[in-house]
Amino acid sequence: MSIEKKRFYFDCDTGIDDAMALGYLLAEKESVEILGIGTVCGNISAQQGAKNTLDLLRLAGQPSVPVAIGENSYLYHDYVCDVQHIHGENGIGDLALALAPSAFHAITESAAELLVRLARENPGKLDIIATGPLTNIAKALQLEPLLPELVGCMTIMGGAALAPGNRTPVAEANIACDPEAAALVFNAMNNIVMVPLDVTMSHTFEEKDKNRLLLSDKPFAKAIGEMLELYIDFYVDTYGRKACALHDPVAAVLAVRGLDACIAPKVKVVIDATPGPGRGQTLCDMRGKYLGYPEPPGANCHVVLSTSQNMADLLMHKLLSVG
Ligand code: BDR
Ligand code: CA
Repeated sequence: MSIEKKRFYFDCDTGIDDAMALGYLLAEKESVEILGIGTVCGNISAQQGAKNTLDLLRLAGQPSVPVAIGENSYLYHDYVCDVQHIHGENGIGDLALALAPSAFHAITESAAELLVRLARENPGKLDIIATGPLTNIAKALQLEPLLPELVGCMTIMGGAALAPGNRTPVAEANIACDPEAAALVFNAMNNIVMVPLDVTMSHTFEEKDKNRLLLSDKPFAKAIGEMLELYIDFYVDTYGRKACALHDPVAAVLAVRGLDACIAPKVKVVIDATPGPGRGQTLCDMRGKYLGYPEPPGANCHVVLSTSQNMADLLMHKLLSVG
């Protein structure tokens, strides 16, 4: 008996750790079907993100997954690329050898249009993974207000519940880039899984992991190893050693494998979209902590605080198998 694959729309700002998340999803091809990918500005422009995604898909031997270029400015303000020191000028670590270009092009629909179409074609069967700013998802909600009823679960990498932020003292980068979009999404949807810095900062690849990828004879794994040279250097000031956080791939793993191995209470999460110092903060109502987190009325989001899954081992195994 064949198991029905989970169907996903993947929204990303490709991005070194987005590339790792993509590799993981492609490696799970026995259980995962990526129906479409949309790119959004964030780590890189939406256009460059689409090129990176298409070229990575070619490298992974799955070149025909539809890729749509999404929003290249945020809901109410312009996009400025300022993370070249983390993700490189091209978003994928300025690989010494640029990836060979894919023969495939981005489709003509926008990312929001693609998401809405896929949701209508697969009512109740499509899950979303979002590893960039939530601008495309907000636009899709504006196009189709029934989107929350059409889709299953939406897993996002973003936010910080009890951990510090990484863009400001309280805000995580994906939410901080477009807090208005995040606020729209969190107000409209009640089946969100938020994979915040609380959990993603606790799962790392070390220098030895990068070296293992570099030794692979598979081009996708080797390319990830090359990208990690820059990414790992950036994190030295954070961790005090050569290691990098596995933000986006941890979100992808939890979207595919579920929350059984996690502490992930369902609570009410509100986004601070005001202009003050709290802008971009994910305000998670954790007041049920001392009662074991009973689900409160109005809860919209599972907040993943930790997982017992060894993410680094799983991701290494999966990335080495791509292509
Ligand atoms: C998030 O911000 C981006 O730089 C990464 O790709 C990840 O999605 C981490 O805060
Ligand atoms: Ca990302």
